[in-house]
Amino acid sequence: MKRPILIHPDPRLKKVCVPVADISDELRVLADDMLETMYDAPGIGLAAPQVGILRRVIAMDCVSDEGAAGRPLVMFNPQIIASSDETNVYEEGCLSIPEQYAEVTRPKVVEVEWMDRDGKQQRETFDGLWATCVQHEVDHLDGKLFIDYLKPLKRQMITRKMQKLKRERARD
Ligand code: NI
Repeated sequence: MKRPILIHPDPRLKKVCVPVADISDELRVLADDMLETMYDAPGIGLAAPQVGILRRVIAMDCVSDEGAAGRPLVMFNPQIIASSDETNVYEEGCLSIPEQYAEVTRPKVVEVEWMDRDGKQQRETFDGLWATCVQHEVDHLDGKLFIDYLKPLKRQMITRKMQKLKRERARD
């Protein structure tokens, strides 16, 4: 089931999320809902706080080739355990900050550990867009948005636009 996505600014997007103890049916439903919400948006990543759940869960699928099979990934308690010195710049966006994009510099390669939906520990190295995406989503779990990497003026400009968007949506 699709869930509504919170729009910045929202206090729930600024919270540090709590780890998941073990995988329950409720968490598997959350995982499915997050993937459905993400694909529907459409987006390549979504973190649980974006749907108002303050737990450490993220969903991703960065397969961009038209016609290629997707790779829906859900991570519980994801942890970045190593990052490359080499960096990459991507123009990032966020489903909680619609239609706003900005370049963010992050490590190019990261090694990530997480628990999968069967409760098994996984570890994998991600590069390129996958690496940027996983770092962006893990940031969400610590209450951090991509605009926090921007200069204050640019961040304030985007925040004001989002406040206006929320007022307009509330009126409709
Ligand atoms: Ni985001």
